[in-house]
Amino acid sequence: MKAARFYDKKDIRIEDIPEPKVEPGTVGIDVAWCGICGTDLHEFMEGPIFIPPCGHPHPISGESAPITMGHEFSGVVYEVGEGVDDIEVGQHVVVEPYIIADDVPTDEGNNYHLSENMNFIGLGGRGGGLSEKIAVKRRWVHPISNDIPLDQAALIEPLAVGYHAFVRSGAKEGDVALVGGGGPIGLLLSSVLKAKGLTVILTELSKARKDKAHESGVADYILDPTEVDLKEEVMKITEGRGVDVAFECSSVNKVLDSLVELTKPAGVVVIVSIWSHPASISVHSVVMKELDVRGTIGYVNNHRDTIELVEQGLVNLEPFITQRIQLDDLISEGFERLIHNNESAVKIIVNPNL
Ligand SMILES: NC(=O)c1ccc[n+]([C@@H]2O[C@H](COP(=O)([O-])OP(=O)(O)OC[C@H]3O[C@@H](n4cnc5c(N)ncnc54)[C@H](O)[C@@H]3O)[C@@H](O)[C@H]2O)c1
Ligand SMILES: [Zn+2]
Repeated sequence: MKAARFYDKKDIRIEDIPEPKVEPGTVGIDVAWCGICGTDLHEFMEGPIFIPPCGHPHPISGESAPITMGHEFSGVVYEVGEGVDDIEVGQHVVVEPYIIADDVPTDEGNNYHLSENMNFIGLGGRGGGLSEKIAVKRRWVHPISNDIPLDQAALIEPLAVGYHAFVRSGAKEGDVALVGGGGPIGLLLSSVLKAKGLTVILTELSKARKDKAHESGVADYILDPTEVDLKEEVMKITEGRGVDVAFECSSVNKVLDSLVELTKPAGVVVIVSIWSHPASISVHSVVMKELDVRGTIGYVNNHRDTIELVEQGLVNLEPFITQRIQLDDLISEGFERLIHNNESAVKIIVNPNL
């Protein structure tokens, strides 16, 4: 079967590899669509980061480069392994793409996403969504309704990132949220916040992404800090109070500074973006306003609630898909466009079976 395999920085190859074996306790999935994530771009440009380099096997998966990429995917079950009796061939599914040690409990209330050596399917090994087929442990496979189109379902993984960030924030209906950065993560997080009854103020620079926020209706206010005085606008909207909760989704220090400045006393700032370097923050403001500054990573038992938002029509994922491509065009039409021309793209999804 065809698969996109990461060998090293700037070296991803589309290759023919053997189909996965559907071992006991696993589910064989025909991949329908797989999204390209910012993390995949980081691996391509600056990696390996999450990917275990050649000769340095990951402690849990035992694999190292070359590894198959892709962690945001949907598909259809084609085979179930021995012992799997609660899922059937033909079922539409998405995957919570974790690699977690077998002795870590993963039921409600356990922070398995913070366990030692946690990694992701499609980065740390165990196959990936940028291939025709994958076999995944039953625990990480989530059935979805046939009413969710499979292309949109590929966005459930990044939507779950937004859902977990919302849970981490403690925000509630009626609150005002400021989202800094309207890339795929900022936009999808905004759609969760809207569905949960918050007022959403989104800041973004790129025209295509501001248009997308308008078109999808995920933000009540879309502010471009190069066009308006952010502080003046946010204070006008919140009648001088500041926002209840803010989400950093840009990896830009200036954005983090604005969020800290514009969050109300005793408010919450959630940092969603990944930082490859230390950032600065006004500790004086954190102290004087008693702000809670929190991180968020991945998701932890958030897939069921995230899928329900989509099944109930409270979140529409369709507007965020800007290109659909085949696996052979992964680098030229996918990675290169997102790296050099992200102005025109939000989420590019790949069909490895085209
Ligand atoms: N915590 C997690 O679990 C998790 C999971 C997935 C991704 N991430 C991270 O979330 C971040 C966002 O991901 P993404 O795919 O949306 O990235 P992205 O780079 O596509 O989006 C960032 C957006 O911020 C905007 N921006 C830049 N400067 C700005 C400014 N001064 N004011 C307003 N907007 C500005 C950019 O125009 C861009 O649209 C990344 O750092 C990514 O690695 C975190
Ligand atoms: Zn991702």
